Amino acid sequence: MADADEQTTESAPYPGFDMTKPSIARTYDYLLGGKDNFAIDRAFGDRFINELPGSPVIATDNRAVLVRAVDQIVRTTPIRQFIDLGSGLPTANNVHQVAQRFAPETKVVYVDNDPIVLAHGRALLVENANTTVIQADLRDPKSIFGNEGATRLIDFDKPVGVMFSAVLHHVNDEEDPAGIVAFWKDRIAPGSHVFISHFRSENDPRSQELEQVLQGSLGRGRWRTDEEILALFGDGFTVLEPGLVPAAEWRPEDEEVDDLTDYQRLIAAVLAVKN
Ligand SMILES: C[S@@+](CC[C@H](N)C(=O)[O-])C[C@H]1O[C@@H](n2cnc3c(N)ncnc32)[C@H](O)[C@@H]1O
Repeated sequence: MADADEQTTESAPYPGFDMTKPSIARTYDYLLGGKDNFAIDRAFGDRFINELPGSPVIATDNRAVLVRAVDQIVRTTPIRQFIDLGSGLPTANNVHQVAQRFAPETKVVYVDNDPIVLAHGRALLVENANTTVIQADLRDPKSIFGNEGATRLIDFDKPVGVMFSAVLHHVNDEEDPAGIVAFWKDRIAPGSHVFISHFRSENDPRSQELEQVLQGSLGRGRWRTDEEILALFGDGFTVLEPGLVPAAEWRPEDEEVDDLTDYQRLIAAVLAVKN
């Protein structure tokens, strides 16, 4: 765990960064083995690892299923545009890199409310005219839909991939996560695909303890049951095979998947198509 001295001597690299609280994006980066995190995030990540030693594998399984989902969407559908909501810090295999490997014309709008994502994401813009990064809160979807970057890159008359990867569990029930999905459903064309990965409670008491850690420190974080996660889609979608399953079991690259650990069952993935 990072020591207190380290926390107090580290200074914010950009204005607007809150160095007194862990950030979801930076803590996730730490769990993925990245370098874009501060002592306060590492301490928070270590607390997670102490309480749930499988936290890093939950993060890597999640990132891997997002990559497989994007790859599958571009290979099996005409979709060539994505909105990645709660995109996180740039890492290996960002959505545009995965999609453009197969379909170079693919456009991607990245959205995150953490200023560090915008700061680091600017590098993506230099390298790629078909991407943009918007700093916005997905709980205010109108601000994203009306954003110049989104309207420039996304043609809402054509199917789009909307990715909610490991982000809706950071939206509390009273903030109406299903209403956020419904907002996008009402604006995207039939054939659009919506991907959700989500903390999955599996009635595991550890998930309830961690929910309390998240709520106590960040004021947000929900482990939902499979029924609660599927209910986020509401009406108007068809869930695609294999349904909602642990992330590691969602269309794995190898047909044979090793037996999952209990930890790996705590992150689920599901893809649905708008009717
Ligand atoms: C666990 S990370 C997931 C990153 C990436 N989607 C992935 O699956 O690899 C969650 C991300 O969602 C972002 N996030 C959380 N709440 C958000 C909100 N209300 N609006 C926009 N982004 C949010 C965090 O800043 C963080 O970058």
